[in-house]
Amino acid sequence: HRTVALLVAAGTGSRVGGDIPKQFRTIGGKAVILHAVDAMMAHGGIDAIHLVIGAGQETQVRALLADRTIAGLTEGADSRRGSVRAGLEAIAAAGGADRVLIHDAARPFVPTAVIDRLLGALDDAQGAIPVLPVADTLVRGADGTMGDGVARDGLFRVQTPQAFMFDTILAAHRCWDECREATDDAQILKEQGHDVILVAGDEGLEKLTYPQDFARAEARLASART
Ligand code: CTP
Ligand code: MG
Repeated sequence: HRTVALLVAAGTGSRVGGDIPKQFRTIGGKAVILHAVDAMMAHGGIDAIHLVIGAGQETQVRALLADRTIAGLTEGADSRRGSVRAGLEAIAAAGGADRVLIHDAARPFVPTAVIDRLLGALDDAQGAIPVLPVADTLVRGADGTMGDGVARDGLFRVQTPQAFMFDTILAAHRCWDECREATDDAQILKEQGHDVILVAGDEGLEKLTYPQDFARAEARLASART
C-alpha cells in the first residue's frame, strides 16, 4: 500500500485569534504544524506527506520545515472541504495513492496507536474515523433557553486523522462538489453509500480551536516529557 498523509493547514484560525494562524503558533517551542508533520513522519506506515497551506505562506512553511521532506505543498481554498479537495487533487496529479490519512494541522498530537487502528480498519472498509464518546450532558437550546435533552449513547465526537481508500474519497469529493456542502470528509464518503468504521480516538487528538486550548496543549506536552 502507498499511504499518504494529507495535512490541511490553510485556515485562518479565527476563533483562536492572534496575529498568526494557530497552526503556526508554537507549543513547547515547536510550531503546531510541525508537531503534526513529525507525528506522521514517525509512523512507519506513512510513505509521504502533503501539506495544504494558505496563499502566500510557502516561503514561511518551507523555512519551518527545514530539512523535512514533503511530497507536496498545495494552496488551499476558502473552506476546509475546498482545501481537502485541493490536496487530494494534488496527490492525484503526483501519481495518486492507495490510502490517505486526512488530518487537521490544528491537531498537533497524533498517537501512533490511532493511526494503527485507522489503517487496520481500511482492510475492511473504504473509510475509518477516530471518535470518542461524549462525556457531557447534551441539550438542545435556542435563544439561550434550554430545550429537550439529547441521549448521549450512540453519539460520538469525531476527530482526525480520518483514513480513506484514496480513489474512493477523491471520487466522493469530486461528486460532492456538484451537489452541496459538508464539513467532514467521512460524511462525504458516507453520502456516497460507503460504510465508515469507527475506531477509538484519543484525548490527545483534541483540536486547537479556542485560545485557552494552547495552555492545555502546553501542559499536556510538559507532562508527557516528565
Ligand atoms: N482549514 C483549511 N482550509 C480552510 C479552513 C480550515 O485547510 N479554508 C484547516 C485548518 O487549518 C485546520 C483544519 O482545517 O487545520 C480544521 O479547521 P478549523 O479548526 O476550523 O481551523 P480554522 O478554520 O483555521 O479556524 P476557525 O474556524 O476558528 O477560523
Ligand atoms: Mg474553520
